Amino acid sequence: MNKPIIIAIDGVSGSGKSTMARTLAAKYNFMYVDTGAMYRAVTYYAIEKKYLTEETLLKSQLIEDLDKIDICFGKDGHTLLNGVDVEDKIRGIEVSQGVSKIATIAEVRSAMVDQQRKMSHSHSVVMDGRDIGTTVFPNADIKLYVTSSPEVRARRRHAELMAKGEVVDYDTILKNITERDYIDSSREVSPLVKAADAIEIDNSSMSIDEQNALLNSIIEKHLS
Ligand code: DC
Repeated sequence: MNKPIIIAIDGVSGSGKSTMARTLAAKYNFMYVDTGAMYRAVTYYAIEKKYLTEETLLKSQLIEDLDKIDICFGKDGHTLLNGVDVEDKIRGIEVSQGVSKIATIAEVRSAMVDQQRKMSHSHSVVMDGRDIGTTVFPNADIKLYVTSSPEVRARRRHAELMAKGEVVDYDTILKNITERDYIDSSREVSPLVKAADAIEIDNSSMSIDEQNALLNSIIEKHLS
């Protein structure tokens, strides 16, 4: 068997990393791993258990439970938490507001990173997140770092949530995105930074077609 290929896609919240990763995974028949969904699923677990509320975070209880938290992805790409489809639940504003706090916990990160590394043992993968090219797979074959302006990202996320019937105002989303940018890039463990050897893509004023064309040229160049 050929050595599995790893494509690492990192970048700021809502920059379209997952659309990019899904497109690539489908095109090359690689496994897609949405690591943000994994941190979101842990956050949802913490909310359900009342370990995470607006006022409190019962960190040690959550850490104790880590070996009881099984996250995987169904055939339809949906996130399964202990066998239950939580895809819709983890995309709502409550989880979005809590996830950065959970993602700063070193023990949570190390449990997720272990699971992510295992996923690449027998498959070629496209993995998106914040620390894939820096921490999870520093030797990834291809590393991309995706950005776009906070306003463009908030407009896109707002339209997405409205289309799903979730009514949230634009300013709340923009505030959430700005806060997450700050927490993600200033946390102590595995902060969001561009790996020195990553290719940066700013898609603020790029159409999906333009982005796909750029991606294709990058990937074909590296795979050939
Ligand atoms: O990609 P996303 O917005 O679904 O990610 C949700 C949160 O999880 C985000 O605020 C940062 C965190 N995250 C992380 O810390 N490390 C990753 N590899 C992926 C996501």
